Amino acid sequence: MSTPGTQLPGVSFSPESPVPRFGILGSGKGSNFRALAEAWKGKTLGCEPVIVLSDVETAGILSLGSEFGIPSRFVHPGPFKTKMTPESEEELVRILREAKVDFVVLAGFMRVIKEPLLNAFPGRILNIHPSLLPSFRGLEAWRQALEAGVTEAGCTVHLVDAGVDTGKILGQSRVPVLPGDTAETLHARIQVAEHELYPRMVREFAREIESESRDF
Ligand code: GRF
Repeated sequence: MSTPGTQLPGVSFSPESPVPRFGILGSGKGSNFRALAEAWKGKTLGCEPVIVLSDVETAGILSLGSEFGIPSRFVHPGPFKTKMTPESEEELVRILREAKVDFVVLAGFMRVIKEPLLNAFPGRILNIHPSLLPSFRGLEAWRQALEAGVTEAGCTVHLVDAGVDTGKILGQSRVPVLPGDTAETLHARIQVAEHELYPRMVREFAREIESESRDF
């Protein structure tokens, strides 16, 4: 988080929006986005989702964005599998700034975030990860948990830094691993927890940055 009194580059409350505005980035079906959009439908909740962006042209999250009346756009990621090109990330930043976004919410965004976005929104990018971090970073964390034989799994909302799933932890929800669980049943149980945790953490984060900006 920023130190009170520090002006964050590229972050400003827009005059047309009295509450912090956030953009959502995702690559997949968008069930976390749906949970956020359902929570926000017809309500302000102290912050406002204003744009949905995806690196996958056919991602469900883009059609869901339109379904909920939130402007939604595909941004071409470039040739790499695990990251966007610097130019593509610059394009993301440009669109997010144009939408006057104060913070960014990753909801199943499958590429590692690099400098252009990190520098544009320092301490202002949230992610949800399907494990109790710091355990099981990286891909298919629920499968890693199952294979490790743990009795408890869950999800974590954290700030994004230059590492993979290494940023400051903001909140977690726990679920049991039950006898007979498969990767699919465990993932489904974790996702139910995600859909409750993420909207709550986004609201809390917005409250925090708003009070910081009022102190400023
Ligand atoms: C979630 O399990 C989340 O924890 C991870 O990516 C998945 C996205 O799922 N970061 P969805 O697209 O929100 O359904």
